[in-house]
Amino acid sequence: MNKRVVLASYPEGWVTESNFRVETAPIPKPGDGEVMVKNLWLSLDPYMRGRMSQQKSYVKGVEIGEVMSGETAGEVLESKHPKFKPGDKVTAPSGWQLYWCGKGEMLTKVDATKVPLSYFLGCLGMPGRTAYFGMKDICQPKSGETVVVSAASGAVGSVVGQLAKAWGCRAVGIAGGKMKCNYVVKELGFDACIDYKAGNLFENLKAACPKGVDALFENVGGEIFDTTLRLMNLRGRITICGLISDYNAKEPYGLKNFRAILVNRLTVRGMIVFDWLERYPEANRDLIELVLAGKLKTRESVVEGLENAPKGLIGLLKGENFGKQLVRLA
Ligand SMILES: NC(=O)c1ccc[n+]([C@@H]2O[C@H](COP(=O)([O-])OP(=O)(O)OC[C@H]3O[C@@H](n4cnc5c(N)ncnc54)[C@H](OP(=O)(O)O)[C@@H]3O)[C@@H](O)[C@H]2O)c1
Repeated sequence: MNKRVVLASYPEGWVTESNFRVETAPIPKPGDGEVMVKNLWLSLDPYMRGRMSQQKSYVKGVEIGEVMSGETAGEVLESKHPKFKPGDKVTAPSGWQLYWCGKGEMLTKVDATKVPLSYFLGCLGMPGRTAYFGMKDICQPKSGETVVVSAASGAVGSVVGQLAKAWGCRAVGIAGGKMKCNYVVKELGFDACIDYKAGNLFENLKAACPKGVDALFENVGGEIFDTTLRLMNLRGRITICGLISDYNAKEPYGLKNFRAILVNRLTVRGMIVFDWLERYPEANRDLIELVLAGKLKTRESVVEGLENAPKGLIGLLKGENFGKQLVRLA
């Protein structure tokens, strides 16, 4: 039997386990042009909070009773598509379930012989590509410049800072807690990381950025973004990638330092990674090269079993994950 997690109700404020329901169903059979996949890993991502809502967004939300959306990495069990055969490793838009069946065109074949399969949901997957294009095309950091990134120990942030270092910049992270900050500096090689939970964010960030901030990769929003705005340099660039501090809030945070955009002639651009779909091969090639060269390190936070996926998502939205959040399915 297939096991899957469906949306039982829309959360108001924080997500709770009662917003989900675990169901069983027959294992799907592939039709012509289709492939059946056994999922081994499920990616948990902050955007899933947005899908648990009827609010207008860049993608339609999940309906009540529908399988929660999400990307998985797994193995082909049966194929009626010429490009796939049993045993192939793939990523797929399966949602929160153990087995998935769909058109071969929806799958991506991956080579997991040199790196773990799970990396294709993290540093070599959607989060890695988000960091890559947000940095390359929007932050456009030049050697010697200072790049700041929030949620620095996470899936996207950790890649952003390591790209900044690989491209000759000063990389400064912002993260919650001493352990995450130590990891970002000692393991990932950032120049500094500021613990926003320790207070004095503005003073500490200013000290870590003695020449100001040329590029900001924003993952969190709210007070952290507002504070960093005060340190931006003339003609700085800002990638608005995520606003996780607002995702469960009843009211969005109101920015106070908007003026910094005007006086510094900042370029501020929102990004959604699938706008770069045609250039994914470029990111995939550069990111795996860095991983194999030991210049792009990653850390994973693993929840065991599909039925624990709701717990994993709730933890992620509260910052309890330490690295890319995954669910091990088998
Ligand atoms: N635009 C796109 O295409 C795109 C694609 C992927 C991801 N994103 C966005 O990128 C951001 C990071 O995603 P990710 O997958 O890399 O997640 P992640 O960083 O691995 O995990 C989320 C982290 O956000 C931080 N956080 C949570 N609530 C917070 C709060 N109230 N204030 C400050 N920090 C908070 C926590 O780290 P700390 O403990 O350090 O606070 C938590 O560990 C999210 O906003 C996500 O929506 C956007």
